[in-house]
Amino acid sequence: MSKNHAKISIEGKTIELPVRKGTLGADVVEISSYYKQTGTFTYDPGFTSTASCESRITFIDGDKGVLLYRGYPIDELAEKGDFLETCYLLLYGELPTKTQKEDFDYRVQHHTMVHEQFSRFFHGFRRDAHPMAIMLAALGAMSAFYHDSIDITDPHQRMVASIRLIAKVPTLAAMAYKYSVGQPFVYPLNSLNYAENFLRMCFAVPCEEYKVNPVLAKAMDTIFTLHADHEQNASTSTVRLAGSSGANPFACIAAGVACLWGPAHGGANEACLKMLEEIGSVERIPEFIARAKDKDDPFRLMGFGHRVYKNYDPRARIMQQTCHAVLKELGIKDDPLLDIAMELERIALHDEYFIEKKLYPNVDFYSGITLKALGFPSSMFTVLFALARSVGWIAQWKEMVEDPAQKIGRPRQLYTGATERHYVPVKNRK
Ligand code: CMC
Repeated sequence: MSKNHAKISIEGKTIELPVRKGTLGADVVEISSYYKQTGTFTYDPGFTSTASCESRITFIDGDKGVLLYRGYPIDELAEKGDFLETCYLLLYGELPTKTQKEDFDYRVQHHTMVHEQFSRFFHGFRRDAHPMAIMLAALGAMSAFYHDSIDITDPHQRMVASIRLIAKVPTLAAMAYKYSVGQPFVYPLNSLNYAENFLRMCFAVPCEEYKVNPVLAKAMDTIFTLHADHEQNASTSTVRLAGSSGANPFACIAAGVACLWGPAHGGANEACLKMLEEIGSVERIPEFIARAKDKDDPFRLMGFGHRVYKNYDPRARIMQQTCHAVLKELGIKDDPLLDIAMELERIALHDEYFIEKKLYPNVDFYSGITLKALGFPSSMFTVLFALARSVGWIAQWKEMVEDPAQKIGRPRQLYTGATERHYVPVKNRK
């Protein structure tokens, strides 16, 4: 704890608030006693200046375009490691030794099956249900199926819940996909690695042999690693807020899935691909750039801009390489959407409006094209994001539950509604 203090004067009274230093990033002014001392609240819609918790998991320097998981740069983890190693790192704080890795991989691989009754749960949905709607419900339903791991006061149950979540989310995501396309569910095959297993559960059919393409499996694994955690974003904060009441981990993750669904967050990759399709040709790009700049037009360039990154999103760089690797492996030489994306990126990076507002491509800019090439319909994109982010959510949830300073989240408000008035019977109302 730093000895520094911040002084704030309000209505003639000056108070001192402690300033705390982290290991990286901005210091924070601790304002928990602010209301008690001044009788006023702080106001920060969208939490643009508010640190909601203390965390040791993920660090972002948005100005420099840096993303670290437990101190390790995202590009090193994505290029040199695998997703399950990242899961271990996020959950336990250190990279696993060889034995720890084998043990962790084994535990995840041997929790991949879901209760057989789950298949009947899926059949309750309309066949045209959005897979994200199914995913949201399936995650919530996990608390009904696995209630022997929802006692949040028991460290063993917390860990079992984390492993179950990481292991079963791909199975549930693949089932949501299979259900939405009317194909039979494919059971997991534990001899395959995490990404291979997921691709097989999504794309194998009983009437044909399915061989996993290692390049595509590596790309899938990279996409999972890139999305594994991202500090206190909207869905993670939702998970933490839900969990602050003592709710069980699966219910909290379902809350995170709901938040992720929005187009300003996890829905952006789907929205980005739709936008590229709508643009349709390189010649029409200037028209859309002009719309993005027009204050009276609500249109925004999807896949551009980020609340925290005011520089190139480090995930976007790796995503761009992954996209090229996938298209090359599949022999897709002239993808019109990729042409539009590359030209759009080139123009936006040189355009005064985007430079001035520090709007760079984010991770979603290239992920839609890559996922489409892998064979996923756009309705599955956010589901894949949720799958990958589940580990980040559960690691952050666990950190919160284990933090002795944790208390229920209860923001305050600036009330601007009616002042007290009295009930008028309906017959007397004008
Ligand atoms: N296209 C055009 N203008 C934009 C864009 C964009 N994509 N993003 C921001 N701006 C402008 C915005 O109009 C505003 O201009 P002004 O100051 O003149 O009013 C200025 O830039 C700042 O925008 P903001 O909405 O205050 O910025 P924010 O930090 O609240 O929003 C964002 C961040 C991600 C919601 C926003 O950039 C956006 O809507 N981007 C498109 C959606 C998208 O790609 N989302 C994925 C985010 S990455 C995945 C994830 O981590 O979840």
